[in-house]
Order: sequence, then structure tokens, then C-alpha cells
Amino acid sequence: MRMTMIPLAIDKLALSRYPKTSDQSLRAWNSADEYLVKHITENLTLDKSSKVLIINDQFGALTCSLSECSPVCWSDSFLSRTAIAENLKFNSLNEKINFIERTENITQPDICFDLVIIRIPKHNSLLTFQLNSIAQFINHNTVILSAGMTKEIHNSTTTLFNKYIGETTTSLAKKKARLMFSKPSSTPKVSNENLYDNLTDIKIYEVKEYDVKSYGLPGVFSRESLDIGSRVLLNYLPETKENQNLIDLGCGTGILGTIVAKNNSTLNLTFCDESFLAVESAKTTYEKNIGRSAEFHITDVLAGLENDQYDHILCNPPFHQQNVQTLSIANKMFKQSAQKLKDRGELRVVANRHLKYRPMLSQYFKNVKMISDDSKFVVWLAYLPKK
Ligand SMILES: C[S@@+](CC[C@H](N)C(=O)[O-])C[C@H]1O[C@@H](n2cnc3c(N)ncnc32)[C@H](O)[C@@H]1O
Repeated sequence: MRMTMIPLAIDKLALSRYPKTSDQSLRAWNSADEYLVKHITENLTLDKSSKVLIINDQFGALTCSLSECSPVCWSDSFLSRTAIAENLKFNSLNEKINFIERTENITQPDICFDLVIIRIPKHNSLLTFQLNSIAQFINHNTVILSAGMTKEIHNSTTTLFNKYIGETTTSLAKKKARLMFSKPSSTPKVSNENLYDNLTDIKIYEVKEYDVKSYGLPGVFSRESLDIGSRVLLNYLPETKENQNLIDLGCGTGILGTIVAKNNSTLNLTFCDESFLAVESAKTTYEKNIGRSAEFHITDVLAGLENDQYDHILCNPPFHQQNVQTLSIANKMFKQSAQKLKDRGELRVVANRHLKYRPMLSQYFKNVKMISDDSKFVVWLAYLPKK
């Protein structure tokens, strides 16, 4: 006899954000996660053999709740993936979760999911890519359940579900969250126009002064045009010497590192980002413009890189995680930059003027100078790392 599996209630789980934060007001789940789990508990019958795909779980609330089904878990974020793994472990739950960064990595290619749960991502381009990619793994019996905060769900979101999955309706809002129910149409809607592997949904822009083109995959930061902060940083790039080592930290499409590499054919480049699609974009940007070898890391900040090895680090740090403002990622970036730089190494950071980075940088560097005179953005040069 098949035993029904009841999702674990989120408030019975001990969930932490990753990176951990001392801000008690920031929880590792929100009312969209609660609404989803409650709906599944009250309306669906699952058992351990149910085939479940969870897309964009932020910190593991959904994966922990449904861990008994051993869901396939798809996230573009290395930070989310780390949070999910840590929360499963901390709650002594089934850790045999199959993490994927694209559907090509689903190990059973002929699988058809019974339930697909989607947390609506920030960018429609990422949602389009994800909906397009799952078409071959669902049929008209698959339950497709999505959720987001009301401010994250727009008419364009429903339009995408209607286009790529089938008829889609939305629930009433509860605690500012909404569910979306999509009925897969019997004719598969898979279209080749946005599939990741043939890289057709890649946005290209050119930075003319440097004769460099940026290539950006779905959801990647500023993939359609150069970020205005990054443009300011371009005026304060380091003068690099032969065979020096430079890191493009939080590389996005890899535009900053690629521009520096353009003028120094002996520079050794390392690109790091926590987004799988960002690192894939940086590989393409670097390959198409420079064509030499470089290192690419999907990692949290600079984890896994050797200490005391780098001459320059360039960084346009994020100040949001999952729609919440945070300085903790920037702080970690500054701290680890000091560790990875040589004694005479330099970190250049661009930031909005209102962000208070000087005291943070001064914790890890003996010298911190403002080197820009832009009215909106500040470029910081930090050197003499405190070891
Ligand atoms: C403001 S964007 C800058 C992107 C790119 N350098 C540019 O100038 O267009 C910040 C980047 O940091 C990445 N990021 C966020 N948290 C990170 C972390 N913990 N470790 C590494 N990269 C991270 C984001 O994915 C994003 O690509």
C-alpha cells in the first residue's frame, strides 16, 4: 500500500538563511512558501514515490517540507543551494536531493513530474527559460503550482505561464502572497526559441570604447546593457603589469574582467559568481572577445581560491539578496578579497553613494581611498590588506 506523505509545516522546521544573518527580522521563508505548503497539504495527495520538481526554492523551506519525496531541486543560485543543503542537514531530513542547474542535468531523461513547484523568479527571462525547459518533463496530469509575493506577480507573469504551460489562474492574495495554478495543455509547448543550449536567448551589447561585447544569459545582472555603476568603474581600472592575476568578483556577464584583459594579453583572469548562468555568460563573453584560457568559479564569494595570490580584484557588489537589502554579501566580499590579495594587491569597488562601505573596507584594508568624483557612484580603492 502506498503511504501518503504529508508535507512538513514550515513553522515546525528550523530554517536559516545563507549567508547567516544577525538580523532577526529576516526569515528564511515567507508567506508565499507557507501558502504553497498549506495548499499542497490540503489539496494534493503525495507519497514517497511522487516525482516532484522544485524550482527557485530560496533557502530550503519547500525542499525541507517535501524532502521525503526526494525532489529534484533546480536553482540558479549557489547560495540558495547551500542554504537548502544546510537546512536539510540541520533538520535531520533526507539529504539525497538531486540538485540541478539546468534540465539537461536531470539524470532520468524520460521522467515525467507529478508536481512542479515554482517560486516566481525576479526576471521574466529566467522564468521563460525555466518554463520552456520543463515542457518535456510534464504532461497534462502534472500539477504546476507557482507562488510569489503579490509584488512579484504581474500580468506578464501570467502571460508567460499561459504561453509556455497552459491555462493559468491566480488565487486570492493571503499575507501579500499569491498562488498560480497552471493546467498543462495536451500539446507540448516546447519551443526552440529560448533554449539555453543553443544560446539564442542571449542578450549582446557592445562597449564601443573598448571594442568588447557582453553576452548575457537569462536572469543575469544587466545582461542587456552596461550597468551605470560598472561604467563609472571603467574610468578607474587598474594599470596591470605582465602576468598579473586579476579576479572579476561577482562577474555577472564578465564584462569588467574581459575589458581589462583586452589591453593585457598576459593577464591571468579569474571570474567568480554565485549564479550558474552568470558564470556561463562570463565564459561566453571572455571566449568571444579574448579567447585565451581563464578560470571560472561558481562559488560563494571567493571560496576555493588560494590566499595571497592575486594582484587586482574588481567588484560591483550586490546589495540585495532575494529582494531584501543586505550589506553582508559585500562585507564578505571585502573580507575575502583581503585574504586572496598579495601584500601589494588592490581591490576596486564601485557602489551607490548611499552605501556605507568605507568602515567595512577599513576593517580589512589599511588604506581605503575614494578615487571617483561621480555624483551618484563612488569608486573605492582598498590596498594593504590586513592579514
Ligand atoms: C551588481 S552585480 C555585478 C555584475 C557584473 N560585475 C557587472 O558589473 O555587470 C553583482 C553580481 O554578484 C553576484 N553575487 C551575488 N552574491 C554573490 C556571492 N555570494 N558570491 C559571488 N557572487 C555573488 C550576482 O550574481 C551578480 O552577478
